[in-house]
Amino acid sequence: MTELQDKHEVQNAVVSASGSKKVFYIFFILLILITITCVALSAATLSIVRRDSNSNSNLNSSSKSGSLSLADQITVEDLLKHLEQLQVIADQSGGTRAITTRGFNGTLDYITRQLEQNTKFILHHQYFTVPNYVVRGTPQLQSQVNGAVNSHVYLTDFAYMVFSARANFTSFVRLVVIPNLGCQDADWSSVSAADAVVLVKRGDCTYIEKVTFAENYRVRGLLVYNDGTAADRFQALQGVRAKMNSSVPAFFLSYSMGMQLVNAANDAGENAGIMMNADVSDAEGIGNICADTPSGDITKTIVVGAHSDGVPAGSGINDNGSGTIGLLVLALNLARLFQTSSNNYPTYPYRVRFCWWGAEEIGLLGSIYHVEQAILNSDKEGERFQDYLLNLNYDMLAGPNYRFGIHDSEMAPTSTPLVALNGTSRITALFRQWFTEQKLPWSNSSLGGGSDYVPFLANGLAVGGVNTGAGGIKTAAERDQYAAILGTGNGGIANAAFDTCYHQQCDRITNINPFAYEKVVKAAAYAIEYMGRLNDLEKWLYPQGRPKRLERISRSQLYNTQNDPELY
Ligand SMILES: *[C@@H]1O[C@H](CO)[C@@H](O)[C@H](O)[C@H]1NC(C)=O
Ligand SMILES: *[C@@H]1O[C@H](CO)[C@@H](O)[C@H](O)[C@H]1NC(C)=O
Ligand SMILES: *[C@@H]1O[C@H](CO)[C@@H](O)[C@H](O)[C@H]1NC(C)=O
Ligand SMILES: *[C@@H]1O[C@H](CO)[C@@H](O)[C@H](O)[C@H]1NC(C)=O
Ligand SMILES: *[C@@H]1O[C@H](CO)[C@@H](O)[C@H](O)[C@H]1NC(C)=O
Ligand SMILES: *[C@@H]1O[C@H](CO)[C@@H](O)[C@H](O)[C@H]1NC(C)=O
Ligand SMILES: *[C@@H]1O[C@H](CO)[C@@H](O)[C@H](O)[C@H]1NC(C)=O
Ligand SMILES: [Zn+2]
Repeated sequence: MTELQDKHEVQNAVVSASGSKKVFYIFFILLILITITCVALSAATLSIVRRDSNSNSNLNSSSKSGSLSLADQITVEDLLKHLEQLQVIADQSGGTRAITTRGFNGTLDYITRQLEQNTKFILHHQYFTVPNYVVRGTPQLQSQVNGAVNSHVYLTDFAYMVFSARANFTSFVRLVVIPNLGCQDADWSSVSAADAVVLVKRGDCTYIEKVTFAENYRVRGLLVYNDGTAADRFQALQGVRAKMNSSVPAFFLSYSMGMQLVNAANDAGENAGIMMNADVSDAEGIGNICADTPSGDITKTIVVGAHSDGVPAGSGINDNGSGTIGLLVLALNLARLFQTSSNNYPTYPYRVRFCWWGAEEIGLLGSIYHVEQAILNSDKEGERFQDYLLNLNYDMLAGPNYRFGIHDSEMAPTSTPLVALNGTSRITALFRQWFTEQKLPWSNSSLGGGSDYVPFLANGLAVGGVNTGAGGIKTAAERDQYAAILGTGNGGIANAAFDTCYHQQCDRITNINPFAYEKVVKAAAYAIEYMGRLNDLEKWLYPQGRPKRLERISRSQLYNTQNDPELY
């Protein structure tokens, strides 16, 4: 999941190797405790287990698959076994699985190997480039005020804004302060910004809007500074994303650096100058992997996705190793059911395509790229956007202080094409029904942005999914709601984040709740099977039919206008 709150990660990937042994023992003890809890819980919910096979009566029972269901194949042992391998991969890569690291490549290799060895699925690798993502050497920011030159400290005073252009200044350039927050044309036209380095305060509009003004006013460089309005709004934030493919070099400054330059410009006027230097290059070979069932109508495809990358700051085990592995375990089990003829488990009339999206954490780049390619593939049957019926997204499935957050169709952005909403609300209802039948609590989760369903939904496809929560806070009411169903003491911790390690180094193998993890993956299995067995899934999702022509949202629109608070 990318950040939904206005928080940004610090790209600080130092991991203490000596700590990992201790963590392992703690994990082991935790695992025993959790096992005891799970045994107790499953004893208390034996009736649920029995209901489980009854719930098959909702499915098309003419399939005569007896009690065999995809959900029944999912075990927490299997999930944890694979998840531990991701931890090993992260540990071998300085504690991260972010793109451009060995940890990311290792993750893709692991998924590929598992699918090749254990399934007859058809694999596709799709590679793309992320422009201006890799910073080489140390970017430089120098100021000259009334002749006195100062060199400022990278990562303390300023940071490079991701995707912005390289800078190669050979002399000082006039500094101009943009009044207000630089969100109105008048802010820019009131000063002579052309050929200057401009200083703009954070706030009110997106970074992308500020960059767009800077481009239109043909500035030489852009310095956005933090606004100091809260304890976490003083730093020179790393990882802040500028506009993709912008021609303007951009740095993000700490509040104190920004104020220092504002004062300098006020005092010295024309005698304040700036020099910016940053050598950046593209990140190449960033990959998506998709794996297709060999059976099913290729023009009626169920796309099930999760992201494969983590953030630079940690191992990314709940976020989104849990989704990555949840998806792998779903794929491996569906393959086994389909391929073992003694199972008598009928294949679905629809193709199922499992996809692991790369570069989710820096703006959903992998899924956006995939959707763009599908829209462009107007003549390649099976690869066209119109060949997709729906997208299920699984991002963060095992939060330690979890909730079962079902994506709620009523919380889709108002800009969502209407055609997507009927099916989305049916998927919402399907998950709610399952959790209710299993005597499990559930919550509503937004469809406002922040994960890989965005490009599908924005282009009119029905979507859905479940996640266990990221940096948001569990309220006392939600804790009580969960405790009322799961038993006193099992409601989790009120006034704490669903995942207190969200986007941090401590998002390790210990940072998961196995009970929640197993339930969410079972819910995912149920949804795939239920929809996979419907007679007319297309009609079920699109009662009015799908429009012949829909105005498709382009990639640059999605990158640059996503309704994501992280961009402010
Ligand atoms: C179940 O599936 C079979 C074969 O796919 C179909 O003939 C039958 O009409 C379906 N029944 C229901 C209730 O959907
Ligand atoms: C920066 O510009 C100078 C002069 O224009 C050029 O010699 C140098 O190679 C450039 N450096 C980079 C890293 O592009
Ligand atoms: C990861 O794989 C890509 C594609 O094969 C390759 O271009 C890149 O150099 C690899 N990166 C690392 C860090 O191994
Ligand atoms: C977690 O993975 C799922 C699927 O595996 C993906 O859809 C989601 O975006 C990921 N979330 C995070 C926070 O990495
Ligand atoms: C959604 O379904 C309802 C009932 O089937 C129908 O009245 C409505 O027009 C549909 N809306 C769209 C956008 O297809
Ligand atoms: C979820 O939202 C629906 C409206 O979409 C509301 O009726 C329901 O009470 C909400 N449920 C929870 C558990 O918040
Ligand atoms: C950025 O530029 C590259 C190379 O010109 C192009 O392939 C890509 O589509 C552009 N991306 C966006 C979002 O404009
Ligand atoms: Zn994330």
